[in-house]
Amino acid sequence: MATFFEVIDKIREVGNIPTLPTVATQVMSLAADPNSNISDIAEVIETDQALATRVLKVVNSSAYAAREKISSIQRAVVHMGLTEIRSITIGLSVMQMFPGRPGLAGFDREAFWNHCLSTGQLAKAMALRLGYNFQGDDYTAGLLHDIGKILLDQYFQDDFVDAIQESRDRGIPLHQAEAKFIGGTHFQVGAWLVKRWRLPPSIYDVVAHHHAPSAAKENREIIAVVFMANILAQAKGLGFGGNIYRVPLDENDGWKIIQQEKPELAEVPFEKFIDDLEDNIEEIRTSGSIF
Ligand SMILES: [Fe+2]
Ligand SMILES: [Fe+2]
Repeated sequence: MATFFEVIDKIREVGNIPTLPTVATQVMSLAADPNSNISDIAEVIETDQALATRVLKVVNSSAYAAREKISSIQRAVVHMGLTEIRSITIGLSVMQMFPGRPGLAGFDREAFWNHCLSTGQLAKAMALRLGYNFQGDDYTAGLLHDIGKILLDQYFQDDFVDAIQESRDRGIPLHQAEAKFIGGTHFQVGAWLVKRWRLPPSIYDVVAHHHAPSAAKENREIIAVVFMANILAQAKGLGFGGNIYRVPLDENDGWKIIQQEKPELAEVPFEKFIDDLEDNIEEIRTSGSIF
């Protein structure tokens, strides 16, 4: 069996490692430049009309709880702030690079992205309810948490399909089967890719630790939030990321971390907390794909 380093070597050998979309790179450098202004950022996003439309759809979704309808990117930047828009733009532009491709044996990219979008929306909604401000990294980290699966699908397709099959047959978490068949997991190769792209550290931490939040040393709260969003999206059947294994909702590791950080929630069961998210879940279920 290959080791993780051999897995990365193989990705390098095959070549064509996806690069971060130009819009994302430009938005990242504008957001970091004290001399840039709102119009500069809006202009860059508007060069990609499909992206601009998706950004507006996210900004107007119930996860963001916008009070009035926002119909221009310029307004969106003013309303949400630069950092938040930067983050959403990164996530959505990466998603656009790997469009939905229904019907592939074992791994349906359209269902996959629906799982990821649902996770992003739920992460944002949860963070808002918990009073956290992760400045858009919650949404983006949710959207990109499983990005490594795209690499596995691209570079190790046969082994990846076998891993999906094995996890289905034996009822084990997909990442365990990936380690067995490929030698590395989607969270390992995903974290490698996100680091290569120099995305914000909290997004890296979520991608790397989204299946074991308790093992993380930093950014534990955002990791916990995306962990909970991921298992909730799975439990509610919002999209499908190839993993049939279900983490029990009660006493999950993500909620335990939040309860440690917020003692006032110590007695609140997770099921009670997610009761408040029914509207968000319903909206995600009925709003359809944003492809
Ligand atoms: Fe995952
Ligand atoms: Fe996932």
